[in-house]
Order: sequence, then C-alpha cells, then structure tokens
Amino acid sequence: VYLRNEWYVAALSDELEGRPVARTLLGQPLVLFRTASGKAAVMDNRCPHRGAPLSTGEVVGESLVCGYHGFSFETTGRCNHIPGGAVIPAKACVRSYPVVDRWGWVFVWMGDLAHVDESLLPNFRWTAEPGWAGGRDYLHVRSNYTLVRDNLLDLTHARFVHKNTLATSAVTDTPIRTSLHGRVVRVERNMLNIEPSPFFKKIPGFKGRVDHRQCIEFHAASYISINTTVTAVAGEDDDRTAAFYVLNAMTPETDKSTHYFWALVRNFAPEDDEVTRMQHELNRATFQEDVDILEQQQALLDSAPADWQPVAVPNDGGCIQAARLMKRLLAQEAGSTA
Ligand code: FES
Ligand SMILES: [Fe+2]
Repeated sequence: VYLRNEWYVAALSDELEGRPVARTLLGQPLVLFRTASGKAAVMDNRCPHRGAPLSTGEVVGESLVCGYHGFSFETTGRCNHIPGGAVIPAKACVRSYPVVDRWGWVFVWMGDLAHVDESLLPNFRWTAEPGWAGGRDYLHVRSNYTLVRDNLLDLTHARFVHKNTLATSAVTDTPIRTSLHGRVVRVERNMLNIEPSPFFKKIPGFKGRVDHRQCIEFHAASYISINTTVTAVAGEDDDRTAAFYVLNAMTPETDKSTHYFWALVRNFAPEDDEVTRMQHELNRATFQEDVDILEQQQALLDSAPADWQPVAVPNDGGCIQAARLMKRLLAQEAGSTA
C-alpha cells in the first residue's frame, strides 16, 4: 500500500527532452513526455484502443500519437484523432495525472483529484537556487523504497559502507537528536572538531579539523533532504564553511523496486565544472555502494521467516519515527477514503 494523495517524482525534467519514457510508478505503468510547447505530461501507458504502450509512439505538437495504430491523445487524456476518420468513441480516453515540473523535478499526483495540493511538495528548490551548483542522477534499486529511506535516515552506515568517501568514526560516536514536525521527521547530528571524511578533504579541500553538522529530513512519503554544513575549526585551516544539500526522492516502482532520484548541490565555487564533475562522481559511486547493500538486504528479508523482526538501537530513532509517521498517514488516508 502506498500513500496516494502525495506528489511523487516521476522523472528528472531533462529526462523528458527526448522520446516518451515508459515508467512504472506505484505499480502502475505510465508514459511520461513533454509536448512541443514544453508541457510535461503523465498518462497511463496502456492505449485504450488495443492496449499497446503509448510510450512507443511519438509526440506530435501537443499530442501523443500511439505507436501501434496512431490514435492521438491530448495531455488531458482526451483522444483527438483516430486515423481513417472513425468517430471517436467516448471510451477512447486515457487517464492523465496532474504534474508539477519545478526546480528540475517532474512531480506527479496519482491520488484523488479532489485533494491535489501543491503545499505538499517537498522543499526541493535547492537544485534551482542561485549560488548553488551541482548535478542530479537516477538509480534503479531492486528494493522496497522504505529500505532506501531508512538507509538515508541512519547515516552511521557511512563508516562501514562508504570507506572511500563518507567514513568517519564520529558518525557512530555522536548521538542523534530526532524530532517530528508535522509530516517531517528530522534527525540531527553535530560532529564537532573531527577529522574530515575523505569526501570533504577532496571537496572543497579541508586540511585541518572541522565541525560537521548533519540535518536529515524525511518528508512523507518519499523524500529525504540531507543538509550538511562543514566549518573549519578556528586555527586549523582557513575560515571556510561549505554547505551541501543532498535531495533524494525514492519513488516506489513496485513493492520490490524503487526509482531513486538524487541531486547533490553545494554553495561554493558554483561555476567550477571540475568540482561539479568530481562531486557527482564521488556521490554516484557512494550511492552505488548503498544500492549493492539494499538489494542484498531486500533478498534476505524476502527469505526471512514470517516472525523475523529487526533489532532496534538508538541510532534507528529516525527510521522508527518515519515508519510510525507513515503508518499514521496511511491509516488517515484509508480512513478518509473509506
Ligand atoms: S493500440 Fe494504440 S492505436 Fe491501437
Ligand atoms: Fe549511504
């Protein structure tokens, strides 16, 4: 079960520059495309004519033309042309979904149209913020999206999984503070006067000791933003501070797979493409390490006995609060539609 009355990231905006994209979200096969005037659209992929994928078709002006027999559909899902001059049957329409194309993310609403609410969008504006620079990417993960969420809510794994980039013993030695703010779970960890992790030695190049502050926010149902601020300790290095945002959108594909969209932006050297390239590559390699663990974890959970339960420790605080929040929101949504 998924929360339906929510925005989910369907694509990165620039994924829609070329051909229509076929992508399954929340178990439903969809087609994603951009019209000639630049409008992003999301519709069911199953053509109402004979069920072929609309994604094999082509965008013609403001319409998507099915690649099998050429039925043409507007972004509302209304059929506006059938080759051969047939009268358009009332049933020849496809379900289309509200889309918000903002800050480089394509958000889709697959829930109740009466509840569409832009105030539920996550604060992902950092990818379009003046003075911030970086890149974004996509990973397909063969695990439930909650495993990706819990990976990001418990960064103690950095010490063990990310030996070449984010490892530091401070991450396990420093306790977290967890708090709930409406639909947001916040996990904070301030690691003061520590040796910088390898990533921050490379970017932006800290040489001495630093204060490293992490603030992770889970925004239900599928977003995590990680704000990292690293400041040189007085007398150790220069006086610089570097701030980063890692924005993560974990969109369920099925209950065993996830579309994982991420962006990493920084607030220094915005024009330096070499820094952007290096930071992107380090991060992609780091996240691949997560994916490798998560896919194996999912496989083992699948084969676990029915009464198997995870063991909780204080560093799981964020994961536990997020799971609780999701349980409450799912119950609320089930109640309001029942
Ligand atoms: S299946 Fe799409 S036009 Fe025939
Ligand atoms: Fe990780």
